[in-house]
Amino acid sequence: MSLKDQYAVFGCPIKHSKSPRIHQLFAQQTDQSLDYSAQEVPAEQFIEAVKAFFAKGGKGLNCTIPLKELAWAFADLKTERAQLAKAVNTLAVQVDGSILGDNTDGIGLIKDLTENHQVNLVKSKVLILGAGGASRGIIKPILDQQVDSIVIANRTEVKAVELAAEFVHLGSVQGCGFSDLEHQQFDVIINATSTSLTGELPPLPNNVLREKGICYDLAYALEPTRFVTWGLDNGALKSLDGLGMLIEQAAEAFYIWRDVRPKTQPVIELFDTERKQCRSSL
Ligand code: ATR
Repeated sequence: MSLKDQYAVFGCPIKHSKSPRIHQLFAQQTDQSLDYSAQEVPAEQFIEAVKAFFAKGGKGLNCTIPLKELAWAFADLKTERAQLAKAVNTLAVQVDGSILGDNTDGIGLIKDLTENHQVNLVKSKVLILGAGGASRGIIKPILDQQVDSIVIANRTEVKAVELAAEFVHLGSVQGCGFSDLEHQQFDVIINATSTSLTGELPPLPNNVLREKGICYDLAYALEPTRFVTWGLDNGALKSLDGLGMLIEQAAEAFYIWRDVRPKTQPVIELFDTERKQCRSSL
């Protein structure tokens, strides 16, 4: 049996997960001795699999689609950001054996925007596209940046209105449909819909992005997503995808588990270079 501390990512599908490689790179960089594997776990097997993992001495888990809500329900205690997100992507064993649930997705986005890309969110008008789990997880971390306001626009308007209502006590958050975006302008637009996975684009009016505004797609793909291209075509100063967020959320999980902060820049650069090489070889 390995003496190394055991970590894993659970999800379904999981074959293309980049997490094992990211965490191995972090471990090498920080001289931490650990194993990190990927395990395909369908939702109906989650409880059994997570209990077995921790019973065997596992130290921490990442949970991804479709398990984040189940992980949230499973955790014995939760951080405030996880509580508000109603989703957990990181589980960690505590000294007393209880399981802490955290959500590092939102802070991953904020770190990528503010530290890696020097985007100042203070006083900005932010538009979030989509009102699903991905949107819910980023609202509080964005509000914490002292933004002017957040508008959540969704195809099913009522979902945006309901989601916004859950956060109004924390700041200026409004929900609406896409048609309500006519004649409004935003400094930052974040795509948290699942459209990039299907090659679609939310219906955005012209001029919704202010001149030299910022676009950010939570999705990450080999080729620029439709939304990233839309941003570039609509005068964005920066139109980014979620590669940096992916690596930053992993770094935050690594820090929770190991109490050591890995450097993210070398890993982001490595993945970005490999992506460019892959594109040019197609
Ligand atoms: P996640 O957990 O990744 O957020 P989700 O909860 O299924 O996934 O939410 C997907 C989001 O993408 C929803 O906001 C969805 O809009 P609806 O609530 O109207 O379904 C949005 N979405 C999916 N396909 C879309 C499309 N073609 N155009 C606009 N929005 C879309």
